[in-house]
Parts: sequence; C-alpha cells; structure tokens
Amino acid sequence: MKQTLIALALSMAAVAPAMADQALAQSKNCMACHAVDKKVVGPAFKDVAAKYAGQKDAADKLATKVIKGGGGVWGPVPMPANPQVNEAEAKKLVAWVLSQK
Ligand code: HEC
Repeated sequence: MKQTLIALALSMAAVAPAMADQALAQSKNCMACHAVDKKVVGPAFKDVAAKYAGQKDAADKLATKVIKGGGGVWGPVPMPANPQVNEAEAKKLVAWVLSQK
C-alpha cells in the first residue's frame, strides 16, 4: 500500500510540472510565437528539443537566449528579448521545451 502511494505520488510529480511549465510558457507569452509541434513565428518546441538532444550545455545557452533574444539559428526572424522572464523561469521553460518529444 505504501509503495503504491509512493508510485502514485511520483507519477503525479512527473506530470504536474510539465503542465505547470506549459502554463508558464503561456503566461510568459512564449506561445504567441511558438507551438509544441508546429512552427509558428519561432520553431516548434519539439524541433528545438530534437536539435539539442544530447547537448549538455544547450540548456544554459538557450535560457540566456530566451531572456536576451537572438537569431540566426532557425531562419531570418530573430527572437526578441523576453525581459518578463527571469533566469529561474527561463531555465524552467527551456527544460520544459527540451523535454518535448
Ligand atoms: C515574438 C516572437 C517570439 C516570442 C514571444 C518568443 N519566441 Fe522563442 N523564438 C522566436 C524565433 C523567431 C526563434 C528563432 C530564432 C533563431 O533562428 O535563432 C525563437 C527561438 C527559440 C528557441 C530556440 C533558440 C535556438 O537558438 O535554437 C527557444 C528555446 C525559444 N525560442 C524559447 C522561447 C520561450 C521559452 C519564450 C517565452 C519566454 C519565447 N521563445 C518567446 C520567436 C519568439
């Protein structure tokens, strides 16, 4: 019984943050230019996850880029800076983006 409860708590913990992070992305306006599985103004988050899969330093670089903006990776349109996002939020968002498959 105890083990069942632990397993349940763990599986809920695995699902809840993913939803919380999508809500964060929505509240921070990321979803105005991005979608999980299709290109909008910016690349699909699934494509971003695939591109950086296995690159250990990608998360830090991407978090900086989310805050400061930048371009030249996905096409001619740069991402504007997102000053409404702090560093902790940027890391959380990027971890969520990179977990999309
Ligand atoms: C005004 C539109 C716009 C908004 C708002 C926006 N993005 Fe982007 N994003 C882009 C574009 C355009 C690119 C492609 C930039 C490039 O080619 O380097 C991009 C690229 C990215 C990348 C990949 C960067 C790379 O170097 O591969 C990530 C990760 C990302 N965005 C996350 C976010 C997050 C998280 C937010 C919300 C805080 C956000 N974006 C808000 C337009 C936007």
